[in-house]
Amino acid sequence: MPEELDEQEKEAKAKEIVKQFMMGNGYGAAAVDLIMDPVDMRICDYHNAFGIIDGYCGDTMMMWIQVENGIIVDASFNTDGCNDSIAAGGMATKLAKGKTLDQAMEIDAEVILEALGGIPSEGGHCAELASNTLRVTISDYRYNNEQA
Ligand code: FES
Repeated sequence: MPEELDEQEKEAKAKEIVKQFMMGNGYGAAAVDLIMDPVDMRICDYHNAFGIIDGYCGDTMMMWIQVENGIIVDASFNTDGCNDSIAAGGMATKLAKGKTLDQAMEIDAEVILEALGGIPSEGGHCAELASNTLRVTISDYRYNNEQA
């Protein structure tokens, strides 16, 4: 008689099946992880800058960052967009943490896509949306804190 799986094992197995399916459809492993567990899809408990952008697809992304001594110590996002935008927003915020503002400004769509290990080809503009939202959020911080 086959061994009974407990609930946790069943869930892990189901997640693995979904992950393999998504990876077979153009998603990198990191992208799938961020879609299935979007840890930074939240509002930062403490933040001192906010940005919001509408993509040409009509979807919106928002970002929050907490900057201390010129370093982004926390970053988060939200979106009403597709799975690709959840992956891209999650990777943009993940990559931004620990960076200076200048370093974070260099996180463009290409950097995000590479770190994700890929998303389906039509998802390129979702990575643009995430990158642009990060840059607008950094600009918001600079506007409010770096005026001469
Ligand atoms: Fe609009 Fe992905 S963010 S389609």
